[in-house]
Amino acid sequence: MSKGVQQRAAPGGAPYTPIQGKKKPRILSGMRPTGKLHLGNYLGALQNWVVLQDSSENLHMVADWHALTTDYEHVEEIAPKTTDMVIDWLAAGIDPEKSPVFIQSHVKEHAELHLLFSMLVTTSRLERNPTVKEQVRDLHLEDSVSYGHLGYPVLQAADILLYKANLVPVGEDQVPHVEITRELARKFNHLYGEVFPVPEVRLTKFPRVPGLDGRRMSKSLDNAIYLSDSPEVIAAKVMTAYTDPKKLRANDPGNPDGCVVFAYHRAFNGENAEQIGADCRAGRLGCVVNKRNLAAILAEQLRPFRERRRELEAHPERVREALRMGEERARKIAQETMREVREAMKLP
Ligand code: TRP
Repeated sequence: MSKGVQQRAAPGGAPYTPIQGKKKPRILSGMRPTGKLHLGNYLGALQNWVVLQDSSENLHMVADWHALTTDYEHVEEIAPKTTDMVIDWLAAGIDPEKSPVFIQSHVKEHAELHLLFSMLVTTSRLERNPTVKEQVRDLHLEDSVSYGHLGYPVLQAADILLYKANLVPVGEDQVPHVEITRELARKFNHLYGEVFPVPEVRLTKFPRVPGLDGRRMSKSLDNAIYLSDSPEVIAAKVMTAYTDPKKLRANDPGNPDGCVVFAYHRAFNGENAEQIGADCRAGRLGCVVNKRNLAAILAEQLRPFRERRRELEAHPERVREALRMGEERARKIAQETMREVREAMKLP
């Protein structure tokens, strides 16, 4: 039995309110609105969300307030990026009837819980957070990190605990944030009484997939293949992918470790990947042929996705309705949790 489940049964702990009347573990997952999603987003998160929607009760949130921590100067991009991302969620197989999808800023309770949690964490604890530190370094914010940015994981804790989630499916980079969530849940429960489960991370199988150049796949590094890319675009991008630089001719033996094309075969080409790796090592497989094969496989695997995406683009009202419905269900849970929180904190 997980810790979270034990905590729920603790005296005074309000049991969670199942959406569909069944006691499945609850999952809250979120993404910042980055627009169209790439293979890294898919393998690192979305694929997992789709798989989990039958065994658990999932809520999927667009973290638009989190986006402001770094993009407060580009607010006009948030709405179109939200739409593009939610279309990708639905096209990838998120069923909005089963799993509410909603926008963080539409459920104001996130802000209230964030404020209350902000009293329970020290600034030095937040300054030690390696994920925020890394971001500060990457964006050269050493002398200008905002109060809100430092509180990024506190807002994330509010997201997760507002729904009393038991599991948080994220990539490795998010583990430090969830650790702060766990600390906040324990601290709150200790101070005011058992309200929150202590959630656990559920790491995905492929937390990080390389980009075309071998670095982390990322929109800002311009090295990504998008779920929505056409077969032509996929083929052109795969041709530029980084391979073993010592393999100069088609029949030179190569080293698939570190080869981006091989990493994608492993992620998308199932059992064939082993053979491809062996053929590469033996000098039986040239990179150009290998890339062409990969591009065809990727394009084929993504075809149903592209078709569903086109369908949703033609019917924007379906996306709006999914968000409206999700928001309503999310708000109901959030309001109930905040009622308990205020009562526990004697803030009637
Ligand atoms: N920090 C997450 C990311 O950058 C997004 C996020 C916000 C999130 N709130 C969350 C993820 C709650 C899981 C749970 O990807």
